[in-house]
Amino acid sequence: MPLTQPTQKVETFTLKNNRGSEATLLAWGATLASFKVQLVSGERREVVLGCDSIEDYQKQEAYLGATVGRYANRIKQATISHQGNALSLTANQGVHQLHGADDFSHREWQGEQLADNKVSFTLFSADGTCGYPGNMQARVDYTLDDDNQLIIDYSASVDKTCPVNLTDHSYFNLNAAADSTIKQHQLYIAGDYYLPVDSEGIPQAGLKSVENTGFDFRQAKTIAEDLGKDDDQKLVGGYDHSFLLQPAVIERGEAVARIVADDQSLAMEVYTDKPAIQLYTGNFLAGTPARSGDSYQAHSGLALETQYLPDSPNRPDWPHKSCWLEPGQGYCTQTRYRVYEPNN
Ligand code: BGC
Repeated sequence: MPLTQPTQKVETFTLKNNRGSEATLLAWGATLASFKVQLVSGERREVVLGCDSIEDYQKQEAYLGATVGRYANRIKQATISHQGNALSLTANQGVHQLHGADDFSHREWQGEQLADNKVSFTLFSADGTCGYPGNMQARVDYTLDDDNQLIIDYSASVDKTCPVNLTDHSYFNLNAAADSTIKQHQLYIAGDYYLPVDSEGIPQAGLKSVENTGFDFRQAKTIAEDLGKDDDQKLVGGYDHSFLLQPAVIERGEAVARIVADDQSLAMEVYTDKPAIQLYTGNFLAGTPARSGDSYQAHSGLALETQYLPDSPNRPDWPHKSCWLEPGQGYCTQTRYRVYEPNN
């Protein structure tokens, strides 16, 4: 149990693999609350940020470890239009919608432990919830395999055409020290283009090449190296942008992103079939309640949220497949986090 003071009952599930690693999931938000990786040295290292109590989870505004939906990231003016019909959604960040207005991340899912290393969560979202059309049935399975991979499988179905963009909002920090930041982590992202946004996080024009910008992570570099340097970063307090992933990398099943701890003792790769990834360097994490009972600081962790590009329901011009799910179609995607010791 990661929560030392649960005054409210929230179902928790623990996944174990044969290497001695462990992940803890909460039914609330189908949340990844803890991922402890067994190292060769005997140390078991926590690699995700989390809170100490369910009250803190419910109070924090950073979506720590949560499953986000129906639509992750921002939708401009909280309005979606499809085949000439405009639909108003619930706005929860000024006039815009962020992270589906909290429907998936802030309520109890139905959890079922399927094996020692696997849990499945299901959620029913009724027609009209947060403004979205149709009933939706969603499922998220977490599996911890013996290669220290946390595998997340998403599936969903709808009975009216609806945009769907589910993601995991975990914040990672691979350092041994729980009070450290990720600024000296090395980061690689297989992205030739990033999506500039305005000061409200809304994309305007299209994608821009990362070439000669601080957004170029095609050769791994520390996050600190160019943090806050570009005008596009200054608008939103740091990196808080989507990258279009190189399609060939996805097709070949290679890692789309990699982070390495400050001292290179631990690394993590991200694999996905989604077309984009949002890099958020925890610019506004300060004050978020931490597992230690204290608070996190800015950049205590970073999120690598696999998804469609933001505002895609309104942007048929984005160069990836449609985010609209039709009745009878299946939404089915997978993201994997593989944690490993580069020197062992
Ligand atoms: C968004 C940030 C936001 C954070 C917490 C991220 O996915 O990109 O802008 O501050 O979530 O809400």
